[in-house]
Amino acid sequence: MGEVKISASGIRKVYNSGGANEVLAIEDLNLDVEKGEFVSLLGPSGCGKSTFLFMVGGFEKPSGGSLTLNGDPIRGPGANRGIVFQEYVLFPWQRVSANIAYGLKIAGVSRAEQEKRIAELIAMIGLQGFEDAYPESLSGGMKQRVAIARALAYDPEILLMDEPFGALDAQTRSRMIADLIRIHEATHKTTLFVTHSVEEAILLSDRVALFTARPARIKEIFEIDMPHPRSVTDDVFVAYEKAILDSLEEEVSKTISAERAS
Ligand SMILES: Nc1ncnc2c1ncn2[C@@H]1O[C@H](COP(=O)(O)OP(=O)(O)O)[C@@H](O)[C@H]1O
Ligand SMILES: [Mg+2]
Repeated sequence: MGEVKISASGIRKVYNSGGANEVLAIEDLNLDVEKGEFVSLLGPSGCGKSTFLFMVGGFEKPSGGSLTLNGDPIRGPGANRGIVFQEYVLFPWQRVSANIAYGLKIAGVSRAEQEKRIAELIAMIGLQGFEDAYPESLSGGMKQRVAIARALAYDPEILLMDEPFGALDAQTRSRMIADLIRIHEATHKTTLFVTHSVEEAILLSDRVALFTARPARIKEIFEIDMPHPRSVTDDVFVAYEKAILDSLEEEVSKTISAERAS
C-alpha cells in the first residue's frame, strides 16, 4: 500500500436539505486514493461525480462522513489542489503567460520565479510560441492546455479534472489524452479525473472508479493493469471496456427508470 492522499469514508451529500427540491446526491461513498495515482470517476450523468470532485476541491461540504486530504479534513479550497473544468475558465483579457501565472502572482512569487515556472509549463503543455497570445485566438484544445498549465502552476499535490476533454473533437481529444499521460508520468500528480468516456478512463487511469446511479456510491473499482501507451484495439483493453460498459449500462438504465418514475 502506498501513502493515502485522499480518503473518503461514508460520504453523504444532500442538496437543499429539508426543502421541496431536496436531492440526495451521494450516500455512503468510500474511496481511498494513493499518492501519485490516476483515478477516473465514471458513472451515469447526474449521479454525483462533479459533486464528489467539488467536495475534494473544497467547494462543497459533505453532509456526512469523513473526507480527508493527507489525513486532515478538507475544510475549503486550497492551493494544494489544482482544478480543470470542462469549460475553459481562462481570463480572456490576459495573455497565455499571465493566465498561467495567475495563482503565482497572488501567492507573491517573485517575477523571476514566475518567468521560470511559466517557461517550464509552456514547454510541458507544448505551447511554445503562444506565450503572448490571448485565449480567443486559441483552439479549444490549446485553451485546455493553458487551463492544465494553470492548475499545475502552484505545483499542487492533487489535480482535479472534471470532463476536461468533453468539449473537444475526437482528434484533439486523443492528443490531449496522450499529453496528459506524459504529464502524469513526469509529475506523478495524484489525479481525480471525471469522465463519461469509458475509453478515456481506460486509456488514462491506474484505477477506474465506477459510480452507481444516484445516490452515488462506488459500485466497482477496475484496476487497469496495462502499460502505457495503451491501444484501444488491444484484447486486454477491449475486455476492460466490455466489463466497464456492461456495469455502467446497468446504472444508466437505473437512472432512466428512476427518471421515468418521477
Ligand atoms: N448546487 C446544486 N443544488 C442542487 N442540486 C444539485 C446541485 N449540484 C448538483 N445537484 C444535483 O445533484 C446530482 C448530482 O449532480 P452532479 O454531481 O453534477 O452529477 P454528475 O457530475 O455525475 O453528472 C444531480 O441530480 C444534480 O441535479
Ligand atoms: Mg458533472
